[in-house]
Amino acid sequence: MPIADDLASVFRRLDVDAVRAAYWRQNELLVLERLLPPALVEALAAEVEAVRPAIHRNYIPRHKKGGSVSFYTLALQAPAILGLYRHPAFLEFLARVTGQRAQPCPESDPHACALYFYTEPGDHIGFHYDTSYYQGTRYTVLVGIVERSSSRLHCQLYKDLPGRAPEELRLRTEPGTLVLFNGDKLWHSITPLGEGEERVSLTLEYVTNPRMTPFKRFVSNMKDSIAYFGFKEVFARRGASPTQ
Ligand SMILES: [Fe+2]
Repeated sequence: MPIADDLASVFRRLDVDAVRAAYWRQNELLVLERLLPPALVEALAAEVEAVRPAIHRNYIPRHKKGGSVSFYTLALQAPAILGLYRHPAFLEFLARVTGQRAQPCPESDPHACALYFYTEPGDHIGFHYDTSYYQGTRYTVLVGIVERSSSRLHCQLYKDLPGRAPEELRLRTEPGTLVLFNGDKLWHSITPLGEGEERVSLTLEYVTNPRMTPFKRFVSNMKDSIAYFGFKEVFARRGASPTQ
């Protein structure tokens, strides 16, 4: 697996101490521009094209407009994405940076890893935290795959940190750029897409404790159905999942 070997060497070459210091200095946010090897980025982009027919679009006034493809589809059709999500060197890297042994989400979670498509003018997502419905901490890794847009990942650092003034950051997520953050700490949005533009990003979610109370599971399912993947995708597939 040359791509997997490539990826392992990328993480071996990184100065983990410097990277960890940057992550903590920014209240658990790390940006590594164009980190992923070109061959992997190409493979990810090919899978983006392969799953386009499965895009589910939705619109929540004043909060969100765009398309997504869930983990259930990626698990069947996107081996390079799944390989990245579960790559041991990548998991080791996350553990060394965050100081936590986070693991991929349960296979019943449609957000475990998912693609987000911004393809129509005005596609965006409003400010939010990636709040954890799990009992443990949730980390998000965002990977740029297609970037032909004026959209930005707009971050507000230190928002709820007492005694610290918030700081704004507007990031362009180029193909292969990787952004890691603690979902409960980074207040973020994606600014609206312009005319004739396109942006596709991959989100990988990791948790330190994969348990969820039944009530939070219900809330999470409803949110995923309404805001992301549709009721059919969330409930029918989750019901059929052997891990449920
Ligand atoms: Fe988010």
